[in-house]
Amino acid sequence: MGAGEDMDLKSLKHPSLAPSYARMQALSALPLWEIIGDLVAEEPSPMGVPHLWRYHEMRALILDAGQRISAAEAERRVLALKNPGLERPGISQTLFAGLQLVMPGEVAPAHRHTQGAIRFVLESTGGYTAVEGERCLMRRGDLITTPSWTWHDHENTGDGPLIWLDGLDVPLVNFFGVRFAEEHPAEQQPIARPDDASVSLWGTGMRPIGARHPKPWSPVMSYPYASVRAALMSASEGAMPDPRHGHALAYCNPQDGGHVLPTIAAFLHHLPEGFETAPWRTTEASVFTVVEGEGTARIGDAELSFGESDVFVAPNWTRITLQASKPTILFRFSDRAAQERLGIWREDPGTPGS
Ligand SMILES: [Fe+2]
Repeated sequence: MGAGEDMDLKSLKHPSLAPSYARMQALSALPLWEIIGDLVAEEPSPMGVPHLWRYHEMRALILDAGQRISAAEAERRVLALKNPGLERPGISQTLFAGLQLVMPGEVAPAHRHTQGAIRFVLESTGGYTAVEGERCLMRRGDLITTPSWTWHDHENTGDGPLIWLDGLDVPLVNFFGVRFAEEHPAEQQPIARPDDASVSLWGTGMRPIGARHPKPWSPVMSYPYASVRAALMSASEGAMPDPRHGHALAYCNPQDGGHVLPTIAAFLHHLPEGFETAPWRTTEASVFTVVEGEGTARIGDAELSFGESDVFVAPNWTRITLQASKPTILFRFSDRAAQERLGIWREDPGTPGS
């Protein structure tokens, strides 16, 4: 029995009290001694199941939708990646993920909402996401953030489809009952700064004297792949890979070293050809996409072979082993940022190397 459901009066620990329980339920009260195992446990149960979405299959579906429905009609033309083990349309209990398409010449109109988002570009011939008066250019592998309540719109300025992986904290924000959204009066918000200005200003190790970014997220709105890949290769050079993560870097807030968003953390992993990680398990739910290479992920009992741009999810508290059959770079995002802020994130102490 779960919290909030009626008690099964046939499987009670103290059946002699059943008449009293019926009276309690009638008065909207429950005997905690009967249900405590559902609320407090020695360790978590994974929520949802491991699953992989093949990019070529998803791409065909979203491109078909692109022929039939405009981005403006759809508001956002997104194919949500629904975890088959969950009721609600999330990729995990805490995270939403989807593949978003903007066709050449199209604009996805400006709006803002309390849910924060990251965008990881999978396919582009030119385009941008405008965030709070700044265009963040979108090239394959770039990471762009649209934090809570920031205006954002998207435009495809190229001649091919613009497709990216969306990651949002929708289930978390909605759980708290803080679901607000607003349409911008114009289709596209006014541009007030040069393209990629947040990278130029905050992404070089410099900051304006006396300036503090007052928000609980990174002032950098864009992490171009060319520079993060160079950083990852530089970290890999002559170093032993971490047994759990391979060579790995976290996208960070340059102001305090924290995660990109208060709810969502993002990482880039380099697995050399033939490398296999030790099994690792944490309380965070992780979503991966394959930037380069191919290999196999063992997540719990599932074995998932992955190739370029495929997306796969590892639920919370589920052992993950990654094996690369070619030199591989994986992008990963998770709810670790939210868990760390709440002081509840944990790694399995039995994980080798921890
Ligand atoms: Fe949005």
